[in-house]
Amino acid sequence: RPGAQEWVPAGADVGQLREAAAGCRGCELWEPATQVVFSAGSPTARLALVGEQPGDQEDRRGIPFVGPAGRLLQRAVEEAGVDRADVYVTNAVKHFRFTQKAPGQRRIHASPDVGHVGACRPWLAAELAAVDPDVIVCLGATAAKALLPKDFRVTKDRGQVLRLSTSRGEKTFLGTIHPSAVLRVPDDDRQGAYDGLVADLRTAVAALG
Ligand code: URA
Ligand code: SF4
Repeated sequence: RPGAQEWVPAGADVGQLREAAAGCRGCELWEPATQVVFSAGSPTARLALVGEQPGDQEDRRGIPFVGPAGRLLQRAVEEAGVDRADVYVTNAVKHFRFTQKAPGQRRIHASPDVGHVGACRPWLAAELAAVDPDVIVCLGATAAKALLPKDFRVTKDRGQVLRLSTSRGEKTFLGTIHPSAVLRVPDDDRQGAYDGLVADLRTAVAALG
């Protein structure tokens, strides 16, 4: 597992990074996946949203957040007062990790481990340097692992505005729950979990100034 660094072109814009990522062999996740899923949205956005990894539908279509979690996220983003066109959306890990009993059977999401997050991090660092957003929202523990301090815990620290130094200077970060986690909450509590996500996104929008 060499990590993605050797495949990441220096000083590239988002389009060039996307093209180069198709050839990445920085970890073993590229092989069973259909294709790399790089990012979507505006390459000049002031707000960036970072998810975990593409899901089944994202893997098939090559676009992040187009499945059930993506639809929920889009709704939450709009409710928080942002046009999705003004947002840059990406994932901590760019290939779909899954388990499958036999070819043709359902592919079951498997969370990336810290090694995959570390291997893929050069893409995330490069795209955030290229886009240079003012506020970066980490959706769930995997994105938080990629970008936030080691002791950050979603349950305890979500919704807090953090100022962290990056290659482009100090930036605002905020961690919150992942939209897939909202979908897993039992029926009678799901609205509350969704409202919590919207509230955290509103905090991120307010931090844009
Ligand atoms: N979940 C994610 O974290 N990212 C996607 O692109 C889709 C689902
Ligand atoms: Fe490269 Fe990331 Fe895909 Fe691994 S998951 S092959 S590091 S793009």
